[in-house]
Amino acid sequence: MADQNHVTPSEAEIAVHWGEEEYYHPSPEFIAQANLADRKAYERFSLEHFPECFKEYADLLDWDRYWETTLDTSNPPFWKWFVGGRLNAAHNCVDRHLPRHRNKTAIHFVPEPEDEPIQHVTYQELYLRVNEFAALLRDFAGVEAGDRVTIHMPMVAELPIAMLACARLGAIHSVVFGGFSGKAAAERMVDSGSRVLVTMDAYYRNGKLLDHKEKADVTVAEAAKEGLTVDKVLVWQRHPGRTSSPTPLVEGRDVLVNDLLKEYRHRTVEPVSMPAEDPLFLMYTSGSTGKPKGAQHSIGGYLSYVAGTTKYYQDLHPEDVYWCMADIGWITGHSYIVYGPLALGASTVVYEGVPTYPDAGRPWRIAEELGVNIFHTSPTAIRGLRKAGPEEPGKYHYHFKHMTTVGEPIEPDVWRWYYHVVGKGEAVIVDTWWQTETGGFLCSTAPALHAMKPGSAGPGVLGVYPVVFDENGNEIPAGSGRAGYLCIRNPWPGQFQTIWGDPDRYVRTYFARFNKDPGSQDWRDWPYMAGDGAMQAEDGYIRILGRIDDVINVAGHRLGTKEIENAALSVPEVAEAAVVAARDELKGTVPDLYVSLHPGYEAGDGLVKRISEAVVKEISPIARPRSIHIVPDMPKTRSGKIMRRILAAISNGSDDVGDVTTLANPEVVETIRAMAQGAR
Ligand code: PRX
Repeated sequence: MADQNHVTPSEAEIAVHWGEEEYYHPSPEFIAQANLADRKAYERFSLEHFPECFKEYADLLDWDRYWETTLDTSNPPFWKWFVGGRLNAAHNCVDRHLPRHRNKTAIHFVPEPEDEPIQHVTYQELYLRVNEFAALLRDFAGVEAGDRVTIHMPMVAELPIAMLACARLGAIHSVVFGGFSGKAAAERMVDSGSRVLVTMDAYYRNGKLLDHKEKADVTVAEAAKEGLTVDKVLVWQRHPGRTSSPTPLVEGRDVLVNDLLKEYRHRTVEPVSMPAEDPLFLMYTSGSTGKPKGAQHSIGGYLSYVAGTTKYYQDLHPEDVYWCMADIGWITGHSYIVYGPLALGASTVVYEGVPTYPDAGRPWRIAEELGVNIFHTSPTAIRGLRKAGPEEPGKYHYHFKHMTTVGEPIEPDVWRWYYHVVGKGEAVIVDTWWQTETGGFLCSTAPALHAMKPGSAGPGVLGVYPVVFDENGNEIPAGSGRAGYLCIRNPWPGQFQTIWGDPDRYVRTYFARFNKDPGSQDWRDWPYMAGDGAMQAEDGYIRILGRIDDVINVAGHRLGTKEIENAALSVPEVAEAAVVAARDELKGTVPDLYVSLHPGYEAGDGLVKRISEAVVKEISPIARPRSIHIVPDMPKTRSGKIMRRILAAISNGSDDVGDVTTLANPEVVETIRAMAQGAR
């Protein structure tokens, strides 16, 4: 064990294996200014005080009407928070800050070409722009409270503006990650039944201006095939006044937002006072089946939870400049770029492009220029920045007091580079474990109260009680060194309410396995199953081992193996497809795809390329397999089940594929191994 505060990593330290105890401590300066510096907070949030403890988070918001019931458990596991309360999320993120913060920057928008000036959108300007777009959505597109609006946009200030405009009207936004294909957006539009698509003509990434409008045309066409008519496509222009997409507008359906907005100048829209339990948004995420599921988040519970966790775990103060380098198209961006920081009246950074273009100094230049002091990113970004420019951070004069890592397990040596080189030994790090479904952080150290341990997320956050169960639902004691299913004992306000349109799947996937009594109205009988394997150390810290279902985490992006397999199966020659997670130095894990062909077909004629392109078209370039192996047959059990475990061992270069004697076709294993391992 070592207390390595303010030193550079030694050889010996680098040699410490993951799993050994190694603690780092926050500095006295950090502790002195922290929002959460009193251990008694954990007593206030003990299970004894549950659920009333979460009033403290809800009281961070403005309520039009205070709630009567903090937690309603009458229809388990469909928990209801702050029942009877009414509020508006856009009012809480914008209007209420005007008296004190009118001229303060709400959003710093950093465009990709570095010579394009940074836009500093003040709270006053945000107020005007959200109102104008809300008026357009309501009066031009006919959007009303409860309607779903799909937003398929890149990282520009107009994205949070569009989200907040929906929230102002009480409409439910469904943001689709900009890098997803038009077809993936269509699937989500159809599922949510949304008739309005908000998009942008183009955006910059890696020095190129990408046509984004062409995806909207695909979305509308694909949605039509499934019986959904998209009434309106609202196209923002990345460069107002000049067209940057060659894809033409479709008369009567598409409209240029920047032009139309002139008619709504200075129009204001009263924020609609919404019941706390109404949905704020849907966020589609991958699960074990091929169909993405729409995690439905509430207005009151979600907003309370992200405000509270941003305050205590991001340690956000009104004077901070906060940069979460994620994409708003994922849950991290919703909670910790948009809703958490804006609910607290802080300044948040939205940046376009990638961290390593034009070079690996870009994040540090942005941090220096804006005076960012709280920085939030993923292990994949850290690995990439370390590889591309290990010495870069030292060249810039920025100072972080706090840094976050999220989305995937971080290797201790990557953690140490983050701590010593990016954080310059001055910043605390929180490794926050959570999920799309959970709305906000579930496990993390409290930055001023707990020592940091590289590679471990930390204990449950305030009011959240993790537990690790074995196969049979018995608790695995902390410190036993055994791994199991990570679950949460109790509900919390940020928890999603259901899967849009599929409540049975919600119960089945997350609660059925460890439920003790299906008739029970006691929340204690309904632990939430996260889908991750984990170990709890003696100190209570949780180490995440990764997904235990058919989900893979590629560069922090969550993808369903079945979705990729279905995309491969859309190529006519492909008979069977199996995706496994292969370890990758930069991205954590990447998909490896194994396919077998229908009889009579042979590999050739660019088949591998066509399969790869099918995956990109159906999903996104982020899902593109690292390698595609066309194999004579899949290793199968006698009942015909593909043994993915064996393929995963081969992909990860393991000599030990385990027992193959029970396979129907054991001989194929060596053939596949020779093909796959020979290919690298
Ligand atoms: O496997 C866990 C991993 O990311 C999954 C959730 O992905 P998503 O819903 O896309 O949300 C990502 C951002 C919260 C989890 O089931 N994961 C998330 N955070 C961590 C993590 N794995 C290890 N350490 C983390 N801090």
